[in-house]
Amino acid sequence: MAGTRGLARLTPVDLLRFAIVGFGNVGAALARHVHERSERVGRRYGIDLRLVAVADSTGFLNDTAGLDGNELAAWRESGRRLAERSGAHRHCQLEDVLAAGVDVVVISLPTDRDTGKPGLNVARASIAAGAHVVLADKGPALLALPELEREAALRGVTVGASATVGAALPTLSVARRELAGAELLEIEAILNGTSNLILTSMRERGISFHEAVAEAQRAGIAEPDPSYDVQGWDTAVKLTILTRALIDERATLNLVGRTGIDELEPDFVEWAHRTGGRIRLIGRAVRRNGGAVVTVAPEVVPPHNPFHLVDGARKAIRFVTDDLGELVVTGGASGRRDVAAALLRDMLATKCQSGVWKG
Ligand SMILES: NC(=O)c1ccc[n+]([C@@H]2O[C@H](COP(=O)([O-])OP(=O)(O)OC[C@H]3O[C@@H](n4cnc5c(N)ncnc54)[C@H](OP(=O)(O)O)[C@@H]3O)[C@@H](O)[C@H]2O)c1
Repeated sequence: MAGTRGLARLTPVDLLRFAIVGFGNVGAALARHVHERSERVGRRYGIDLRLVAVADSTGFLNDTAGLDGNELAAWRESGRRLAERSGAHRHCQLEDVLAAGVDVVVISLPTDRDTGKPGLNVARASIAAGAHVVLADKGPALLALPELEREAALRGVTVGASATVGAALPTLSVARRELAGAELLEIEAILNGTSNLILTSMRERGISFHEAVAEAQRAGIAEPDPSYDVQGWDTAVKLTILTRALIDERATLNLVGRTGIDELEPDFVEWAHRTGGRIRLIGRAVRRNGGAVVTVAPEVVPPHNPFHLVDGARKAIRFVTDDLGELVVTGGASGRRDVAAALLRDMLATKCQSGVWKG
């Protein structure tokens, strides 16, 4: 069997019908990415990726024969909504989306950190209907990933959440597969590419925090309101998702001790500079007293530390275990392309549950 995975296939044999619920920046990026990668996926894995439904807040479109993801992405990027298209249904009910006969429901709705809705409702209903779920929306992952995974396992489907915890940087899958059997004692991570880029710009060019933020905004990397990233919320959300999935399901966002990079003291920056260290926004979850202590704060990373070299919008994660030592993964730049690629990775993983590609 060795090498069969690399053999070219001429005809896709395994149909993967998917819906995108929430057709904004991420949904449109995924539609375009799948359109661009479908030939490769068909040739390499024998999977025919077919977009059969898309929904935004104004309505939904479906076609069992397949929608043109590239054209829909262009429609969205020109500022128009789905209800403006001919053939669109004005009132989108999830049952309508599922009735399109979907194997995977990708949820890219706005994140609600308090209730997880509406994405959480969509995830539960999709699983109940026997569809795999792939999440970009962090709300359902933050509040209920372990619960959703248990429900999914009972139905013989899966929940992909890699886009909610680092996207291109593999986190959950590495811990679960490569560290199986060991006790995870600590997670240490750089999970917010925007903050890391701002810190890198400040150090490399000696500019202020506000100058670095403005620069990242001009480059389209930082949001017009950067507080979610620079105040450490994004890191705290991702780390809580990871902690609940890997260390203690009782961890909650409101218990995270959080300090952002907007609170850096000049002395701290000067000390980092003098000692040859580099400031990173570090998320840390430590197993303690049967639970987990979770914090987010800027730290000075010394030159011998692997995180020292993680510059720009790159990310990194370090797992500390009892039996399998320490494992560091770095990479995964931020950006919509990376999120779309992570979502596609999770979609493909639904066909590869035992590590062997079907089709
Ligand atoms: N941007 C990133 O790089 C990134 C990375 C990882 C994860 N995420 C997560 O991915 C999700 C989507 O992000 P985004 O940047 O694509 O957001 P966005 O541009 O605001 O898109 C959200 C989409 O959800 C739709 N929507 C809102 N409420 C709805 C409802 N009740 N029913 C159906 N559709 C509804 C919106 O419709 P309308 O356009 O009609 O309002 C829009 O199409 C968020 O949860 C975000 O945190 C984003």
